Amino acid sequence: MNNFNLHIPTQLYFGKDQHKELSRLIPANSKILLLYGGGSIKHNGIYEQVIGELSSFDVIEFGGIEANPQYTTLSKALEVIKLNEINFLLAVGGGSVIDGTKFLASAALYEGEHPWDILEKGLRTEIGLPFGTVLTLPATGSEMNSGAVISRKETGQKLAMGGPGLFPVFSIADPTVVASLPKRQLANGIVDAFTHVMEQYMTYPTSATLQDRISEGILSTLIEIAPEVMSTPENFELAANFMWCCNMALNGIIQKGVPTDWSIHAIGHEITAAYGIDHARTLAIVLPSMYRYKLEKKELKLAQYGRRVLGLTGDDRKVAEQAIDQTEDFFRSLGIGTKLSDYDVDNASAFPQSCVTSMEKQRTIILGEHKDIRSKDVKSILEAAI
Ligand code: NZQ
Ligand code: ZN
Repeated sequence: MNNFNLHIPTQLYFGKDQHKELSRLIPANSKILLLYGGGSIKHNGIYEQVIGELSSFDVIEFGGIEANPQYTTLSKALEVIKLNEINFLLAVGGGSVIDGTKFLASAALYEGEHPWDILEKGLRTEIGLPFGTVLTLPATGSEMNSGAVISRKETGQKLAMGGPGLFPVFSIADPTVVASLPKRQLANGIVDAFTHVMEQYMTYPTSATLQDRISEGILSTLIEIAPEVMSTPENFELAANFMWCCNMALNGIIQKGVPTDWSIHAIGHEITAAYGIDHARTLAIVLPSMYRYKLEKKELKLAQYGRRVLGLTGDDRKVAEQAIDQTEDFFRSLGIGTKLSDYDVDNASAFPQSCVTSMEKQRTIILGEHKDIRSKDVKSILEAAI
């Protein structure tokens, strides 16, 4: 097992009615900017719940943060923060609102001229404006990690940022929010969380037995509950298991002491930047193709996953191949297309090359747990995913 440091400072309040803790969790006399997305919170009762707990605070609202949060929108929120001397941010939403808030937490204290540099130059955020979150969509784990991904339409970029200053101070995770989610978002959440586990697990066998078993437990649970979560999202117990899986998939625990991959996400972000396809769906496009391409290097771990999670039997190669096929079938069973051509995209055949060119413009392509996925490999992986 590799050496590691584990520090997750976020207080997680998980369960029914945990929003009632809000007024206690936010420091007294805070001047709050409440951030939200396209308005779902105004239709499903979450806004009323939250605002009802904030009566003793000075609160300004900023809505309209879109899925795949945009730099231009966030720049407007940054002006509001500065103009009103906001000192606490409250994100009420899914990964996009929370990530947008993380960017603002960083940008509000950034002394450089162009906050986009935080992303473009990969600057780590050591200290950010304090913020809390009220999670409305289980998927990304953003409620308990220190990463964010921000998009910029004008330049076609979708870039990641992070640092120890970007953990939420607290997060409210009430599984009852799952009841109002459209099927599309339920399926996205399941596939995103599933792929988060895979990116930290599907490398090569190590001596990290517990990390493997926790990862396999999350994968098995997601497969077990997925059909019922999709058909009865109002079932609280199912929703609670779903929400906890998503959190555990990316709260940092399963990546400790083990090699990680993250190449599927790196390529997936480019697909979203080019075509606007939902984050989770880009992962479903890349994952099967990636694992088929890396079959030799990942065979032993794929076989372990196939046997332990999917109950397959046979020799390593056969189990590994079947495991990839069954994972792809699982994504498709949720209504998620696993080929680029399943989506309404222009000029898909030119995409593998244009994607590589765009990635190379930002930095040299070196991906995967062996750092052996280079430009030509990304092109081949994408060609097989059309
Ligand atoms: O904007 P509103 O109106 O709120 O609607 C949202 C949005 O349209 C809707 N929604 C959210 N909660 C709802 C709801 N609708 C009904 N009822 C509710 N309770 O769902 C839509 C999608 O929301 P979004 O926040 O975009 O989804 P998600 O949580 O999947 O976040 C995706 C973003 O997170 C990034 C992705 O790249 C993408 O930009 N990620 C962040 C990560 C992180 N910070 O750790 C890791 C991930 O790998 C990922 O990259
Ligand atoms: Zn993801």
